[in-house]
Amino acid sequence: MEENQSFDVLIIGSGAAGLSLALRLPDAVHCAIVAKRELTEGNTLYAQGGISAVLDSCDSVESHVEDTLQAGAGLCREDVVRKVVEHGPGNIHWLTGEGVAFTQTPATGDSNFHLTREGGHSYRRVVHAADATGRAVETSLVEKIHKRRNTRFFEYCVAIDLIRQREGEGKQRFKRCLGAYLLNLKTNKVFSVSAKCVVLATGGASKVYLYTSNPDVATGDGIAIAWRAGCRVANMEFIQFHPTCLYHPQAKSFLLSEALRGEGAWLCLPNGERFMHRYHARAELAPRDVVARAIDSEMKRLGADCVYLDISHQPVEFVLAHFPTIQQRCLELGFDLSREAVPVVPAAHYTCGGIKVNAHGETDISGLYAIGETAYTGLHGANRMASNSLLECLVYSELAAQHIFSSLPNIPAPDTPAVWDESRVTDSDEEVVVAHNWDELRRFMWDYVGIVRSNKRLARAKRRVDMLRHEIEEYYTNFRVSNDLLELRNLVEVADLIIQSAQRRRESRGLHYNIDFPDTDENQLEPTVLIPDNYAPRRAHKSPVLV
Ligand code: FAD
Ligand code: SIN
Repeated sequence: MEENQSFDVLIIGSGAAGLSLALRLPDAVHCAIVAKRELTEGNTLYAQGGISAVLDSCDSVESHVEDTLQAGAGLCREDVVRKVVEHGPGNIHWLTGEGVAFTQTPATGDSNFHLTREGGHSYRRVVHAADATGRAVETSLVEKIHKRRNTRFFEYCVAIDLIRQREGEGKQRFKRCLGAYLLNLKTNKVFSVSAKCVVLATGGASKVYLYTSNPDVATGDGIAIAWRAGCRVANMEFIQFHPTCLYHPQAKSFLLSEALRGEGAWLCLPNGERFMHRYHARAELAPRDVVARAIDSEMKRLGADCVYLDISHQPVEFVLAHFPTIQQRCLELGFDLSREAVPVVPAAHYTCGGIKVNAHGETDISGLYAIGETAYTGLHGANRMASNSLLECLVYSELAAQHIFSSLPNIPAPDTPAVWDESRVTDSDEEVVVAHNWDELRRFMWDYVGIVRSNKRLARAKRRVDMLRHEIEEYYTNFRVSNDLLELRNLVEVADLIIQSAQRRRESRGLHYNIDFPDTDENQLEPTVLIPDNYAPRRAHKSPVLV
Protein backbone atom coordinates (compact mmCIF):
# COMPACT_ATOMS: atom_id res chain seq x y z
CA MET A 1 0.00 0.00 0.00
CA GLU A 2 1.45 3.33 -1.07
CA GLU A 3 1.13 6.18 1.44
CA ASN A 4 -1.83 8.51 1.17
CA GLN A 5 -0.80 11.78 -0.50
CA SER A 6 -2.60 15.06 -0.01
CA PHE A 7 -3.13 17.97 -2.43
CA ASP A 8 -5.21 21.11 -2.78
CA VAL A 9 -6.81 19.89 -6.01
CA LEU A 10 -6.99 16.38 -7.42
CA ILE A 11 -7.80 16.40 -11.15
CA ILE A 12 -8.82 13.03 -12.57
CA GLY A 13 -8.29 13.27 -16.33
CA SER A 14 -5.68 14.94 -18.48
CA GLY A 15 -7.60 15.92 -21.63
CA ALA A 16 -8.48 19.44 -22.71
CA ALA A 17 -10.73 19.88 -19.68
CA GLY A 18 -8.40 18.61 -16.94
CA LEU A 19 -5.22 20.22 -18.25
CA SER A 20 -6.84 23.59 -18.95
CA LEU A 21 -8.20 23.66 -15.43
CA ALA A 22 -4.79 22.81 -13.96
CA LEU A 23 -3.10 25.49 -16.03
CA ARG A 24 -5.63 28.07 -14.93
CA LEU A 25 -4.99 27.56 -11.24
CA PRO A 26 -2.19 29.73 -9.86
CA ASP A 27 1.20 28.12 -9.39
CA ALA A 28 0.79 28.17 -5.61
CA VAL A 29 -2.07 25.66 -5.76
CA HIS A 30 -0.75 22.16 -5.18
CA CYS A 31 -2.34 19.89 -7.84
CA ALA A 32 -2.34 16.23 -8.75
CA ILE A 33 -3.34 15.05 -12.23
CA VAL A 34 -4.33 11.43 -12.79
CA ALA A 35 -4.50 9.65 -16.15
CA LYS A 36 -5.28 6.05 -17.03
CA ARG A 37 -2.48 5.95 -19.57
CA GLU A 38 0.13 8.57 -20.49
CA LEU A 39 -1.10 12.15 -20.04
CA THR A 40 -1.76 12.71 -23.74
CA GLU A 41 -4.12 9.73 -24.28
CA GLY A 42 -7.83 10.53 -24.41
CA ASN A 43 -10.47 11.84 -26.79
CA THR A 44 -8.83 15.26 -26.97
CA LEU A 45 -5.76 13.86 -28.72
CA TYR A 46 -7.90 12.56 -31.60
CA ALA A 47 -10.09 15.63 -32.16
CA GLN A 48 -9.89 16.60 -35.79
CA GLY A 49 -12.30 19.30 -36.99
CA GLY A 50 -11.58 22.07 -34.51
CA ILE A 51 -13.09 24.42 -31.94
CA SER A 52 -16.04 26.68 -32.64
CA ALA A 53 -15.87 30.36 -31.72
CA VAL A 54 -17.13 33.62 -33.13
CA LEU A 55 -14.00 35.13 -34.66
CA ASP A 56 -15.21 36.67 -37.89
CA SER A 57 -17.01 40.00 -38.11
CA CYS A 58 -19.66 38.51 -40.43
CA ASP A 59 -20.49 36.03 -37.65
CA SER A 60 -22.16 36.83 -34.33
CA VAL A 61 -22.72 35.46 -30.85
CA GLU A 62 -26.42 35.44 -31.67
CA SER A 63 -25.88 33.20 -34.69
CA HIS A 64 -23.64 30.74 -32.80
CA VAL A 65 -26.22 30.62 -30.00
CA GLU A 66 -29.06 30.07 -32.47
CA ASP A 67 -27.24 27.28 -34.35
CA THR A 68 -26.41 25.51 -31.05
CA LEU A 69 -30.03 25.74 -29.91
CA GLN A 70 -31.25 24.43 -33.27
CA ALA A 71 -28.89 21.45 -33.17
CA GLY A 72 -29.86 20.78 -29.54
CA ALA A 73 -33.49 20.27 -30.63
CA GLY A 74 -35.17 22.22 -27.83
CA LEU A 75 -33.23 20.83 -24.87
CA CYS A 76 -30.29 23.22 -24.57
CA ARG A 77 -30.20 25.63 -21.66
CA GLU A 78 -30.07 28.97 -23.41
CA ASP A 79 -28.26 30.75 -20.55
CA VAL A 80 -25.52 28.12 -20.65
CA VAL A 81 -25.26 28.26 -24.45
CA ARG A 82 -24.91 32.04 -24.39
CA LYS A 83 -22.28 31.99 -21.66
CA VAL A 84 -20.20 29.34 -23.42
CA VAL A 85 -20.43 31.08 -26.79
CA GLU A 86 -19.51 34.45 -25.28
CA HIS A 87 -16.43 32.93 -23.63
CA GLY A 88 -15.34 31.30 -26.93
CA PRO A 89 -13.02 33.88 -28.51
CA GLY A 90 -11.22 34.54 -25.19
CA ASN A 91 -10.53 30.84 -24.83
CA ILE A 92 -9.11 30.53 -28.33
CA HIS A 93 -6.73 33.40 -27.56
CA TRP A 94 -5.87 31.70 -24.25
CA LEU A 95 -4.94 28.54 -26.17
CA THR A 96 -2.76 30.45 -28.61
CA GLY A 97 -1.06 31.96 -25.55
CA GLU A 98 -0.43 28.41 -24.32
CA GLY A 99 1.34 27.69 -27.60
CA VAL A 100 -1.36 26.08 -29.79
CA ALA A 101 -0.59 26.81 -33.43
CA PHE A 102 -3.91 27.05 -35.25
CA THR A 103 -3.98 27.09 -39.04
CA GLN A 104 -3.70 30.68 -40.27
CA THR A 105 -4.75 32.45 -43.40
CA PRO A 106 -4.50 36.13 -44.17
CA ALA A 107 -7.59 35.82 -46.40
CA THR A 108 -10.31 34.92 -43.89
CA GLY A 109 -12.27 37.48 -41.86
CA ASP A 110 -10.71 39.87 -39.39
CA SER A 111 -8.49 37.40 -37.58
CA ASN A 112 -5.79 35.38 -39.21
CA PHE A 113 -7.31 32.09 -38.14
CA HIS A 114 -8.43 29.92 -41.01
CA LEU A 115 -12.04 29.11 -40.15
CA THR A 116 -13.60 25.94 -41.44
CA ARG A 117 -17.21 24.88 -41.45
CA GLU A 118 -19.09 21.92 -40.04
CA GLY A 119 -22.64 20.62 -39.79
CA GLY A 120 -25.22 22.90 -38.19
CA HIS A 121 -23.03 26.04 -38.32
CA SER A 122 -24.38 28.96 -40.36
CA TYR A 123 -20.91 30.47 -40.72
CA ARG A 124 -17.32 29.42 -40.95
CA ARG A 125 -16.42 29.54 -37.27
CA VAL A 126 -14.25 26.51 -36.54
CA VAL A 127 -10.60 27.23 -35.71
CA HIS A 128 -8.37 24.26 -36.32
CA ALA A 129 -4.83 22.97 -36.66
CA ALA A 130 -5.20 21.34 -40.09
CA ASP A 131 -7.11 18.09 -39.38
CA ALA A 132 -5.33 17.30 -36.10
CA THR A 133 -6.62 20.05 -33.80
CA GLY A 134 -6.79 17.83 -30.73
CA ARG A 135 -3.17 16.78 -31.05
CA ALA A 136 -2.07 20.40 -31.30
CA VAL A 137 -4.11 21.34 -28.22
CA GLU A 138 -3.18 18.31 -26.11
CA THR A 139 0.54 18.34 -26.82
CA SER A 140 0.80 22.09 -26.17
CA LEU A 141 -1.06 21.81 -22.86
CA VAL A 142 1.00 18.80 -21.76
CA GLU A 143 4.19 20.69 -22.58
CA LYS A 144 3.00 23.64 -20.47
CA ILE A 145 1.84 21.55 -17.51
CA HIS A 146 5.17 19.76 -17.34
CA LYS A 147 6.73 23.13 -16.54
CA ARG A 148 4.56 23.52 -13.43
CA ARG A 149 6.57 22.77 -10.32
CA ASN A 150 3.56 22.40 -8.06
CA THR A 151 1.85 19.65 -10.03
CA ARG A 152 2.30 15.94 -9.47
CA PHE A 153 1.39 13.47 -12.23
CA PHE A 154 -0.07 10.00 -11.68
CA GLU A 155 0.08 8.35 -15.10
CA TYR A 156 -1.13 4.77 -15.56
CA CYS A 157 -3.33 5.14 -12.51
CA VAL A 158 -7.08 4.46 -12.57
CA ALA A 159 -9.51 6.17 -10.20
CA ILE A 160 -11.70 3.47 -8.66
CA ASP A 161 -14.09 5.42 -6.44
CA LEU A 162 -14.31 8.64 -4.48
CA ILE A 163 -13.57 9.00 -0.81
CA ARG A 164 -16.39 10.87 0.91
CA GLN A 165 -17.10 12.28 4.30
CA ARG A 166 -20.48 12.65 5.94
CA GLU A 167 -21.20 16.22 6.96
CA GLY A 168 -23.88 17.49 9.33
CA GLU A 169 -26.27 15.43 11.38
CA GLY A 170 -29.63 13.73 10.92
CA LYS A 171 -31.73 13.72 7.78
CA GLN A 172 -29.96 16.70 6.23
CA ARG A 173 -26.64 14.88 6.13
CA PHE A 174 -24.68 15.69 3.02
CA LYS A 175 -21.31 14.65 1.77
CA ARG A 176 -18.01 16.17 1.01
CA CYS A 177 -15.52 14.64 -1.39
CA LEU A 178 -12.14 14.04 0.20
CA GLY A 179 -10.22 12.33 -2.58
CA ALA A 180 -10.13 9.09 -4.49
CA TYR A 181 -8.79 5.56 -4.43
CA LEU A 182 -6.47 4.89 -7.36
CA LEU A 183 -5.15 1.66 -8.82
CA ASN A 184 -1.55 1.95 -9.99
CA LEU A 185 -1.50 -0.12 -13.20
CA LYS A 186 2.25 -0.63 -13.03
CA THR A 187 2.41 -1.99 -9.47
CA ASN A 188 -1.20 -3.27 -9.25
CA LYS A 189 -1.49 -1.56 -5.87
CA VAL A 190 -4.38 0.59 -4.69
CA PHE A 191 -3.57 3.85 -2.91
CA SER A 192 -5.45 6.95 -1.84
CA VAL A 193 -5.04 10.58 -2.74
CA SER A 194 -6.83 13.19 -0.66
CA ALA A 195 -7.59 16.76 -1.68
CA LYS A 196 -9.66 19.77 -0.73
CA CYS A 197 -11.31 19.67 -4.16
CA VAL A 198 -11.63 16.84 -6.65
CA VAL A 199 -12.34 17.39 -10.35
CA LEU A 200 -13.68 14.64 -12.60
CA ALA A 201 -12.44 15.38 -16.14
CA THR A 202 -12.62 11.78 -17.30
CA GLY A 203 -14.17 12.23 -20.76
CA GLY A 204 -16.96 10.29 -22.44
CA ALA A 205 -18.38 6.78 -22.50
CA SER A 206 -18.57 5.80 -26.17
CA LYS A 207 -16.64 2.58 -25.54
CA VAL A 208 -19.94 1.21 -24.31
CA TYR A 209 -20.69 0.65 -28.02
CA LEU A 210 -19.08 -1.92 -30.26
CA TYR A 211 -18.17 0.64 -32.94
CA THR A 212 -16.79 3.95 -31.76
CA SER A 213 -14.49 6.75 -32.83
CA ASN A 214 -13.17 6.94 -29.25
CA PRO A 215 -9.92 5.54 -27.85
CA ASP A 216 -9.95 2.76 -25.25
CA VAL A 217 -9.90 5.07 -22.21
CA ALA A 218 -13.40 6.43 -22.97
CA THR A 219 -15.26 4.08 -20.64
CA GLY A 220 -17.42 6.60 -18.78
CA ASP A 221 -15.56 6.09 -15.49
CA GLY A 222 -16.29 9.55 -14.12
CA ILE A 223 -20.03 9.22 -14.74
CA ALA A 224 -20.17 5.82 -13.03
CA ILE A 225 -17.98 6.96 -10.13
CA ALA A 226 -20.07 10.09 -9.52
CA TRP A 227 -23.34 8.12 -9.77
CA ARG A 228 -22.16 5.56 -7.23
CA ALA A 229 -21.12 8.42 -4.94
CA GLY A 230 -24.60 9.99 -5.04
CA CYS A 231 -24.55 12.51 -7.92
CA ARG A 232 -27.41 13.00 -10.33
CA VAL A 233 -26.78 12.39 -14.03
CA ALA A 234 -28.74 13.86 -16.92
CA ASN A 235 -29.58 13.27 -20.60
CA MET A 236 -27.72 9.99 -20.90
CA GLU A 237 -30.00 8.85 -23.75
CA PHE A 238 -28.35 11.37 -26.06
CA ILE A 239 -25.37 9.49 -27.43
CA GLN A 240 -24.00 11.05 -30.59
CA PHE A 241 -23.12 8.79 -33.49
CA HIS A 242 -20.64 10.44 -35.85
CA PRO A 243 -21.82 9.82 -39.41
CA THR A 244 -18.46 9.20 -41.03
CA CYS A 245 -16.00 6.72 -39.59
CA LEU A 246 -13.90 4.84 -42.07
CA TYR A 247 -15.42 1.45 -42.84
CA HIS A 248 -12.63 -1.06 -42.69
CA PRO A 249 -13.32 -4.44 -41.11
CA GLN A 250 -9.70 -4.90 -40.00
CA ALA A 251 -9.01 -1.42 -38.59
CA LYS A 252 -10.31 0.21 -35.43
CA SER A 253 -12.77 2.97 -36.26
CA PHE A 254 -11.03 6.01 -37.66
CA LEU A 255 -12.89 9.31 -37.93
CA LEU A 256 -13.24 11.18 -41.21
CA SER A 257 -13.82 14.71 -39.97
CA GLU A 258 -17.03 16.58 -40.61
CA ALA A 259 -14.75 19.36 -41.87
CA LEU A 260 -14.42 17.26 -45.05
CA ARG A 261 -18.10 17.87 -45.70
CA GLY A 262 -17.59 21.46 -44.57
CA GLU A 263 -15.03 21.77 -47.37
CA GLY A 264 -17.33 20.22 -49.97
CA ALA A 265 -17.26 16.41 -49.58
CA TRP A 266 -20.39 14.52 -50.67
CA LEU A 267 -22.07 11.51 -49.17
CA CYS A 268 -22.94 8.95 -51.83
CA LEU A 269 -24.61 5.57 -52.14
CA PRO A 270 -22.62 2.62 -53.51
CA ASN A 271 -23.83 3.60 -57.02
CA GLY A 272 -22.37 7.11 -56.62
CA GLU A 273 -25.72 8.88 -56.14
CA ARG A 274 -25.90 11.68 -53.53
CA PHE A 275 -28.77 11.31 -51.07
CA MET A 276 -28.57 13.83 -48.23
CA HIS A 277 -30.75 16.45 -50.03
CA ARG A 278 -33.63 13.98 -49.58
CA TYR A 279 -33.27 14.28 -45.79
CA HIS A 280 -32.42 17.93 -45.02
CA ALA A 281 -32.20 21.30 -46.73
CA ARG A 282 -28.56 21.60 -45.61
CA ALA A 283 -27.80 18.23 -47.24
CA GLU A 284 -24.34 17.00 -46.14
CA LEU A 285 -24.12 19.85 -43.61
CA ALA A 286 -27.29 18.95 -41.73
CA PRO A 287 -26.89 18.37 -37.97
CA ARG A 288 -25.14 15.13 -37.11
CA ASP A 289 -28.19 13.24 -35.84
CA VAL A 290 -29.95 13.78 -39.16
CA VAL A 291 -26.93 12.67 -41.22
CA ALA A 292 -26.25 9.56 -39.07
CA ARG A 293 -29.90 8.47 -39.25
CA ALA A 294 -30.02 9.10 -43.01
CA ILE A 295 -26.95 6.89 -43.52
CA ASP A 296 -28.39 4.20 -41.25
CA SER A 297 -31.66 4.29 -43.15
CA GLU A 298 -29.99 4.12 -46.61
CA MET A 299 -27.75 1.25 -45.51
CA LYS A 300 -30.77 -0.67 -44.22
CA ARG A 301 -32.84 0.13 -47.34
CA LEU A 302 -30.11 -1.13 -49.67
CA GLY A 303 -28.68 -3.84 -47.43
CA ALA A 304 -25.33 -2.03 -47.88
CA ASP A 305 -22.36 -2.36 -45.50
CA CYS A 306 -21.47 1.33 -45.84
CA VAL A 307 -21.95 4.52 -47.82
CA TYR A 308 -19.18 6.63 -49.37
CA LEU A 309 -17.60 10.00 -48.64
CA ASP A 310 -16.23 11.71 -51.71
CA ILE A 311 -14.00 14.80 -51.83
CA SER A 312 -12.13 13.72 -54.95
CA HIS A 313 -13.77 16.54 -56.96
CA GLN A 314 -11.62 19.04 -55.00
CA PRO A 315 -8.05 19.67 -56.21
CA VAL A 316 -5.55 17.14 -54.86
CA GLU A 317 -3.38 19.93 -53.36
CA PHE A 318 -6.42 21.28 -51.49
CA VAL A 319 -7.19 17.88 -49.95
CA LEU A 320 -3.56 17.32 -48.98
CA ALA A 321 -3.24 20.78 -47.44
CA HIS A 322 -6.44 20.58 -45.40
CA PHE A 323 -6.54 16.91 -44.44
CA PRO A 324 -2.98 15.56 -44.27
CA THR A 325 -3.57 13.30 -41.24
CA ILE A 326 -6.72 11.75 -42.64
CA GLN A 327 -5.14 11.26 -46.07
CA GLN A 328 -2.14 9.55 -44.46
CA ARG A 329 -4.28 7.13 -42.43
CA CYS A 330 -6.49 6.38 -45.46
CA LEU A 331 -3.40 5.60 -47.55
CA GLU A 332 -2.15 3.23 -44.83
CA LEU A 333 -5.47 1.40 -45.09
CA GLY A 334 -5.47 1.31 -48.89
CA PHE A 335 -7.67 4.32 -49.84
CA ASP A 336 -6.63 7.53 -51.57
CA LEU A 337 -8.96 10.20 -50.21
CA SER A 338 -7.80 12.74 -52.79
CA ARG A 339 -8.71 10.53 -55.74
CA GLU A 340 -11.56 8.24 -54.73
CA ALA A 341 -14.68 7.96 -52.58
CA VAL A 342 -13.95 6.17 -49.31
CA PRO A 343 -16.34 3.83 -47.43
CA VAL A 344 -17.88 5.21 -44.23
CA VAL A 345 -20.29 4.15 -41.47
CA PRO A 346 -21.58 5.89 -38.33
CA ALA A 347 -19.99 5.06 -34.95
CA ALA A 348 -20.57 6.13 -31.34
CA HIS A 349 -18.71 9.39 -30.86
CA TYR A 350 -19.84 11.63 -28.03
CA THR A 351 -21.73 11.47 -24.71
CA CYS A 352 -24.03 14.51 -24.60
CA GLY A 353 -25.28 13.73 -21.10
CA GLY A 354 -23.28 13.19 -17.95
CA ILE A 355 -22.80 14.30 -14.36
CA LYS A 356 -25.18 17.13 -13.62
CA VAL A 357 -23.28 20.30 -12.73
CA ASN A 358 -24.07 23.94 -12.00
CA ALA A 359 -22.64 27.08 -13.56
CA HIS A 360 -19.24 26.52 -11.86
CA GLY A 361 -18.97 22.84 -12.69
CA GLU A 362 -19.97 21.81 -9.14
CA THR A 363 -21.69 18.44 -8.77
CA ASP A 364 -24.15 17.35 -6.06
CA ILE A 365 -21.29 16.57 -3.67
CA SER A 366 -19.39 19.41 -1.97
CA GLY A 367 -15.83 19.67 -3.16
CA LEU A 368 -16.51 17.56 -6.28
CA TYR A 369 -16.50 19.17 -9.72
CA ALA A 370 -17.06 17.67 -13.17
CA ILE A 371 -15.96 19.30 -16.43
CA GLY A 372 -15.59 18.33 -20.08
CA GLU A 373 -17.33 15.44 -21.78
CA THR A 374 -18.12 13.70 -18.49
CA ALA A 375 -20.33 16.58 -17.38
CA TYR A 376 -23.86 17.61 -18.28
CA THR A 377 -23.98 21.42 -18.30
CA GLY A 378 -27.04 21.97 -20.50
CA LEU A 379 -24.99 23.19 -23.48
CA HIS A 380 -25.66 20.39 -25.95
CA GLY A 381 -29.30 19.52 -25.34
CA ALA A 382 -30.47 16.59 -27.45
CA ASN A 383 -27.61 16.85 -29.94
CA ARG A 384 -24.18 18.49 -29.73
CA MET A 385 -23.20 20.75 -32.58
CA ALA A 386 -19.82 19.98 -34.13
CA SER A 387 -16.79 21.50 -32.43
CA ASN A 388 -18.76 22.74 -29.42
CA SER A 389 -17.22 20.08 -27.20
CA LEU A 390 -13.66 21.35 -26.95
CA LEU A 391 -15.18 24.78 -26.47
CA GLU A 392 -17.19 23.51 -23.49
CA CYS A 393 -14.06 21.85 -22.01
CA LEU A 394 -12.23 25.17 -22.16
CA VAL A 395 -15.00 27.41 -20.86
CA TYR A 396 -15.97 25.15 -17.94
CA SER A 397 -12.33 24.63 -16.98
CA GLU A 398 -12.09 28.41 -16.71
CA LEU A 399 -15.30 28.74 -14.67
CA ALA A 400 -14.46 25.83 -12.36
CA ALA A 401 -10.88 27.02 -11.82
CA GLN A 402 -12.15 30.43 -10.69
CA HIS A 403 -14.62 28.83 -8.31
CA ILE A 404 -12.13 26.36 -6.89
CA PHE A 405 -9.51 29.05 -6.35
CA SER A 406 -11.92 31.29 -4.47
CA SER A 407 -13.21 28.36 -2.36
CA LEU A 408 -9.86 26.86 -1.34
CA PRO A 409 -9.09 29.21 1.57
CA ASN A 410 -12.33 28.13 3.30
CA ILE A 411 -11.77 24.40 2.98
CA PRO A 412 -9.84 22.62 5.74
CA ALA A 413 -7.22 20.05 4.80
CA PRO A 414 -8.90 16.65 4.46
CA ASP A 415 -8.29 13.92 7.02
CA THR A 416 -6.32 10.86 6.00
CA PRO A 417 -8.84 8.45 4.48
CA ALA A 418 -9.37 4.84 5.47
CA VAL A 419 -6.96 2.38 3.94
CA TRP A 420 -8.22 0.37 0.93
CA ASP A 421 -9.27 -2.99 2.30
CA GLU A 422 -8.18 -6.04 0.29
CA SER A 423 -8.44 -8.51 3.16
CA ARG A 424 -11.49 -10.31 1.74
CA VAL A 425 -10.59 -10.58 -1.93
CA THR A 426 -8.41 -12.96 -3.89
CA ASP A 427 -6.87 -12.95 -7.35
CA SER A 428 -9.39 -13.67 -10.07
CA ASP A 429 -9.52 -17.26 -11.27
CA GLU A 430 -11.57 -16.51 -14.40
CA GLU A 431 -10.43 -13.40 -16.27
CA VAL A 432 -12.35 -14.74 -19.25
CA VAL A 433 -15.61 -13.67 -17.58
CA VAL A 434 -14.53 -10.05 -17.81
CA ALA A 435 -13.47 -10.30 -21.46
CA HIS A 436 -16.67 -12.11 -22.42
CA ASN A 437 -18.92 -9.62 -20.63
CA TRP A 438 -17.11 -6.67 -22.22
CA ASP A 439 -17.90 -8.03 -25.68
CA GLU A 440 -21.46 -8.93 -24.87
CA LEU A 441 -22.22 -5.53 -23.38
CA ARG A 442 -20.79 -3.54 -26.26
CA ARG A 443 -22.56 -5.68 -28.85
CA PHE A 444 -26.04 -5.52 -27.33
CA MET A 445 -25.68 -1.77 -26.74
CA TRP A 446 -24.89 -1.41 -30.45
CA ASP A 447 -27.73 -3.67 -31.54
CA TYR A 448 -30.46 -2.49 -29.16
CA VAL A 449 -29.57 1.01 -27.95
CA GLY A 450 -28.00 2.46 -31.10
CA ILE A 451 -29.08 5.02 -33.69
CA VAL A 452 -32.63 3.63 -33.97
CA ARG A 453 -34.27 2.27 -30.81
CA SER A 454 -37.59 0.64 -29.95
CA ASN A 455 -39.36 -0.21 -26.70
CA LYS A 456 -38.73 -3.90 -27.26
CA ARG A 457 -35.02 -3.43 -27.96
CA LEU A 458 -34.60 -1.23 -24.89
CA ALA A 459 -36.40 -3.75 -22.68
CA ARG A 460 -34.18 -6.50 -24.06
CA ALA A 461 -31.07 -4.45 -23.35
CA LYS A 462 -32.30 -3.65 -19.83
CA ARG A 463 -32.73 -7.36 -19.02
CA ARG A 464 -29.23 -8.13 -20.20
CA VAL A 465 -27.61 -5.22 -18.41
CA ASP A 466 -29.30 -6.21 -15.14
CA MET A 467 -27.85 -9.71 -15.45
CA LEU A 468 -24.38 -8.44 -16.26
CA ARG A 469 -24.46 -5.89 -13.46
CA HIS A 470 -25.28 -8.64 -10.96
CA GLU A 471 -22.48 -10.87 -12.24
CA ILE A 472 -19.92 -8.08 -12.24
CA GLU A 473 -20.81 -6.81 -8.78
CA GLU A 474 -20.28 -10.33 -7.46
CA TYR A 475 -16.97 -10.53 -9.26
CA TYR A 476 -15.93 -7.10 -7.94
CA THR A 477 -16.73 -8.11 -4.37
CA ASN A 478 -14.68 -11.29 -4.51
CA PHE A 479 -11.65 -10.51 -6.60
CA ARG A 480 -8.79 -8.03 -6.64
CA VAL A 481 -9.44 -5.10 -8.96
CA SER A 482 -7.83 -4.85 -12.38
CA ASN A 483 -8.11 -2.21 -15.09
CA ASP A 484 -10.44 -4.35 -17.22
CA LEU A 485 -12.70 -5.17 -14.30
CA LEU A 486 -12.93 -1.52 -13.23
CA GLU A 487 -13.72 -0.39 -16.77
CA LEU A 488 -16.31 -3.11 -17.24
CA ARG A 489 -17.96 -2.25 -13.93
CA ASN A 490 -18.19 1.38 -15.07
CA LEU A 491 -19.38 0.54 -18.56
CA VAL A 492 -22.20 -1.58 -17.20
CA GLU A 493 -23.22 1.26 -14.89
CA VAL A 494 -23.19 3.74 -17.75
CA ALA A 495 -25.04 1.36 -20.10
CA ASP A 496 -27.74 1.02 -17.48
CA LEU A 497 -28.01 4.82 -17.18
CA ILE A 498 -28.29 5.16 -20.98
CA ILE A 499 -31.00 2.50 -21.20
CA GLN A 500 -32.99 3.87 -18.26
CA SER A 501 -32.85 7.39 -19.71
CA ALA A 502 -33.87 6.15 -23.15
CA GLN A 503 -36.81 4.29 -21.63
CA ARG A 504 -37.96 7.43 -19.83
CA ARG A 505 -38.02 9.59 -22.94
CA ARG A 506 -41.27 8.66 -24.64
CA GLU A 507 -40.69 10.64 -27.84
CA SER A 508 -38.02 11.02 -30.51
CA ARG A 509 -35.81 14.08 -30.26
CA GLY A 510 -32.33 14.91 -31.48
CA LEU A 511 -30.08 11.90 -31.08
CA HIS A 512 -32.72 9.76 -29.40
CA TYR A 513 -34.91 8.06 -31.99
CA ASN A 514 -37.47 5.44 -30.91
CA ILE A 515 -39.67 3.88 -33.63
CA ASP A 516 -42.46 3.39 -31.07
CA PHE A 517 -42.54 7.16 -30.40
CA PRO A 518 -41.40 8.54 -33.77
CA ASP A 519 -42.61 12.10 -33.16
CA THR A 520 -41.24 14.92 -31.07
CA ASP A 521 -43.53 15.84 -28.19
CA GLU A 522 -43.38 19.55 -27.43
CA ASN A 523 -44.39 18.82 -23.84
CA GLN A 524 -41.19 16.88 -23.15
CA LEU A 525 -38.83 19.81 -22.91
CA GLU A 526 -37.11 18.84 -19.66
CA PRO A 527 -33.78 17.01 -19.44
CA THR A 528 -33.90 13.40 -18.29
CA VAL A 529 -32.46 13.50 -14.78
CA LEU A 530 -31.69 10.25 -12.95
CA ILE A 531 -31.35 10.40 -9.18
CA PRO A 532 -29.33 7.76 -7.32
CA ASP A 533 -30.70 6.18 -4.13
CA ASN A 534 -27.94 7.78 -2.06
CA TYR A 535 -28.53 11.31 -3.41
CA ALA A 536 -28.71 14.09 -0.82
CA PRO A 537 -29.21 17.71 -1.92
CA ARG A 538 -26.11 19.81 -1.40
CA ARG A 539 -26.15 23.02 0.58
CA ALA A 540 -23.68 25.89 0.63
CA HIS A 541 -20.35 24.92 2.10
CA LYS A 542 -19.62 25.23 5.81
CA SER A 543 -16.77 23.59 7.67
CA PRO A 544 -17.33 19.85 7.69
CA VAL A 545 -18.45 18.06 10.87
CA LEU A 546 -16.79 14.70 11.26
CA VAL A 547 -19.16 11.85 12.02
P1 FAD B 1 -10.60 13.37 -22.69
O1 FAD B 1 -9.78 14.16 -23.61
O2 FAD B 1 -11.23 12.15 -23.23
O3 FAD B 1 -9.67 12.96 -21.47
C1 FAD B 1 -10.13 12.06 -20.49
C2 FAD B 1 -9.02 11.85 -19.48
O4 FAD B 1 -9.55 11.16 -18.35
C3 FAD B 1 -7.87 10.99 -19.97
O5 FAD B 1 -6.68 11.55 -19.46
C4 FAD B 1 -8.10 9.63 -19.30
O6 FAD B 1 -6.94 8.88 -19.08
C5 FAD B 1 -8.69 10.10 -17.99
N1 FAD B 1 -9.48 9.10 -17.28
C6 FAD B 1 -10.67 8.55 -17.64
N2 FAD B 1 -11.10 7.71 -16.70
C7 FAD B 1 -10.18 7.71 -15.71
C8 FAD B 1 -10.04 7.03 -14.49
N3 FAD B 1 -10.94 6.15 -14.03
N4 FAD B 1 -8.93 7.27 -13.74
C9 FAD B 1 -7.98 8.13 -14.15
N5 FAD B 1 -8.07 8.82 -15.31
C10 FAD B 1 -9.15 8.60 -16.08
N6 FAD B 1 -14.76 17.88 -30.27
C11 FAD B 1 -14.64 19.10 -30.78
O7 FAD B 1 -15.09 20.08 -30.19
N7 FAD B 1 -14.03 19.27 -31.99
C12 FAD B 1 -13.51 18.25 -32.70
O8 FAD B 1 -12.94 18.45 -33.76
C13 FAD B 1 -13.64 16.95 -32.18
N8 FAD B 1 -13.18 15.88 -32.87
C14 FAD B 1 -13.22 14.65 -32.28
C15 FAD B 1 -12.66 13.56 -32.95
C16 FAD B 1 -12.60 12.33 -32.34
C17 FAD B 1 -12.00 11.15 -33.06
C18 FAD B 1 -13.14 12.17 -31.05
C19 FAD B 1 -13.09 10.83 -30.36
C20 FAD B 1 -13.74 13.23 -30.40
C21 FAD B 1 -13.79 14.48 -31.01
N9 FAD B 1 -14.35 15.57 -30.37
C22 FAD B 1 -14.26 16.81 -30.92
C23 FAD B 1 -14.87 15.46 -29.01
C24 FAD B 1 -13.79 15.99 -28.05
O9 FAD B 1 -12.53 15.58 -28.52
C25 FAD B 1 -13.98 15.45 -26.66
O10 FAD B 1 -15.30 15.63 -26.24
C26 FAD B 1 -13.06 16.20 -25.68
O11 FAD B 1 -11.74 16.12 -26.16
C27 FAD B 1 -13.17 15.61 -24.30
O12 FAD B 1 -12.16 16.16 -23.51
P2 FAD B 1 -12.09 15.78 -21.98
O13 FAD B 1 -10.95 16.54 -21.42
O14 FAD B 1 -13.41 15.91 -21.37
O15 FAD B 1 -11.76 14.21 -21.99
C1 SIN C 1 -15.05 16.06 -36.61
O1 SIN C 1 -13.97 16.55 -36.91
O2 SIN C 1 -15.89 15.67 -37.42
C2 SIN C 1 -15.40 15.93 -35.16
C3 SIN C 1 -15.90 17.22 -34.70
C4 SIN C 1 -16.63 17.08 -33.40
O3 SIN C 1 -16.87 15.98 -32.92
O4 SIN C 1 -17.01 18.13 -32.88
